[in-house]
Amino acid sequence: MSVLINSATWKQLVLHKNKLDKTDMKTMFAADPERFPRFTVKQKGILFDYSKNIINDETIRLLFKLADDCDLKVKIDAMFSGQKINVTENRAVLHTALRNLRSTKITVGSNDIMPGINDVLSRMGRFAESLHKGHHQGFSGKKINTIINIGIGGSYLGPAMICGALKYYAKPDMKIRFVSNVDGTDIIENLKGIDPETTLFVIASKTFTTQETLTNAETAKKWFLESAAGKNDIKSHFIALSTNIDGAKEFGIDPKNVFGFWDWVGGRYSLWSAVGMSIALYIGFDNFASLLAGASETDEHFRTEPFEHNMPVIAALLGIWYSNFFDARTQAVIPYDQYLARLPEYLQQLDMESNGKSVCLNGELVDYSTGPVIWGQPGTSAQHSFFQLIHQGTQMIPVDFIAVMNNANKPGNHHDILLSNFFAQTEALMKGRNEAEAREELESQGMDETEIKKLLPHKIFPGNKPTNSIILDKLDPHTLGMLVAMYEHKVFVQGAIWNINSFDQWGVELGKILAKQILPQLTAAEDVTDHDSSTNGLMNYYKGKH
Ligand code: F6P
Repeated sequence: MSVLINSATWKQLVLHKNKLDKTDMKTMFAADPERFPRFTVKQKGILFDYSKNIINDETIRLLFKLADDCDLKVKIDAMFSGQKINVTENRAVLHTALRNLRSTKITVGSNDIMPGINDVLSRMGRFAESLHKGHHQGFSGKKINTIINIGIGGSYLGPAMICGALKYYAKPDMKIRFVSNVDGTDIIENLKGIDPETTLFVIASKTFTTQETLTNAETAKKWFLESAAGKNDIKSHFIALSTNIDGAKEFGIDPKNVFGFWDWVGGRYSLWSAVGMSIALYIGFDNFASLLAGASETDEHFRTEPFEHNMPVIAALLGIWYSNFFDARTQAVIPYDQYLARLPEYLQQLDMESNGKSVCLNGELVDYSTGPVIWGQPGTSAQHSFFQLIHQGTQMIPVDFIAVMNNANKPGNHHDILLSNFFAQTEALMKGRNEAEAREELESQGMDETEIKKLLPHKIFPGNKPTNSIILDKLDPHTLGMLVAMYEHKVFVQGAIWNINSFDQWGVELGKILAKQILPQLTAAEDVTDHDSSTNGLMNYYKGKH
């Protein structure tokens, strides 16, 4: 049995959960009018209400104790101070340094990394400004007005989510598209209607070896050369964001247009690095800097606030509470803001690539659940697709509800309708509807007893479904930076408690290696015989038919 589940605190949490099973949130709310202020944390611009969870003071005390037992504070300091906490890759984890806007010294080994970070940031700022002012032009002298970001995973999801969320802040006339999938449809469809004379291709790849990205980049280069000018024009239409400067140069990108970063920036944590260039080009460098400043504010909050007021710590511990003590296997994130439509997809990589692990730092298999499945869609659309299962299905699904107070677009009373649904759903999930309430409703419709008996079981909602309500004052770059950093640190805390490495992703590698072996076999004349019978059969079927 692992040290974690054998610990006194873990065992106390198991017993405590059994006690809480005898009550419900509705009863706890009725007994305590102060429950909302007691279980709410405010950080400038964000309110985090966790009162609609199956918790009481004792739960929180025990969860904080668990965090202490796991040396959470020491682990937080180790990350921020550049210790090599990514032990399987022997790397520091310092995406927080990328938004260390006060430039306090941070070292990796004996090197202060801040001058390098600041140098790339100012190069990014100069490039963005020169493009926006029309000094950096396309080969025919026209202003660039279209960005095509080619990248996958962390080199795509972060920038795509942020650009979607901050569309309201986009530079006038600037368009952005994202190509990630190696399916040729992605690039072909995204190149439709694009003018090569006014398009900048941003090739984002930490390693600059990723098959999908390099294949798409080559196709983009071919398209550009066929539809436009000569090789010499590549320098004004292709830039690279990468730790592999030589790889980018080899592709043909002008070294002046390669923006670097470092191995201590994980791919899924890279939107704050040069990978954020597409964001800066789309919304302006000042807004990109505000995004960094917001994240930096959450970093300070996370590093310095006691656990009682620490949003990422509380969010993480609640996730642990449900994953490990209620056997919740998934967690939904529902933004009630259309601009945040891609947040769940971004969080999928952040959370599931980080904590989808089953081996502890000491190499032993875990004997408890780790990262949950993260999923979601914007509300209210989600209410009309999968909410039924959250309300009345057999699984417990904790949900983060996210809303924005001052929405940018408020035609008529859309925003009040939107928010009334937000409040109604969290209340309904918490309260449910008991038999007496359901019966009263049916009786008020004039139904006879036989019909009531038939319908009653279907009309009862168990309730007691946990939710967090996160309300942003405004969806601006600063607040969005705060929110995203909050989720990053939540994932970190969970990894720290589960004693896993949240910063590697070996699981993704096997498929990549096999795909590279299989590719030449698809075009070879002879039948494939060296795999299992299913893989041989499928490959030969494909070869015979295409
Ligand atoms: O396959 C997983 C992964 O390594 C992610 O972690 C990463 O974000 C993505 O591939 C893309 O990698 P790169 O930025 O090196 O092209």
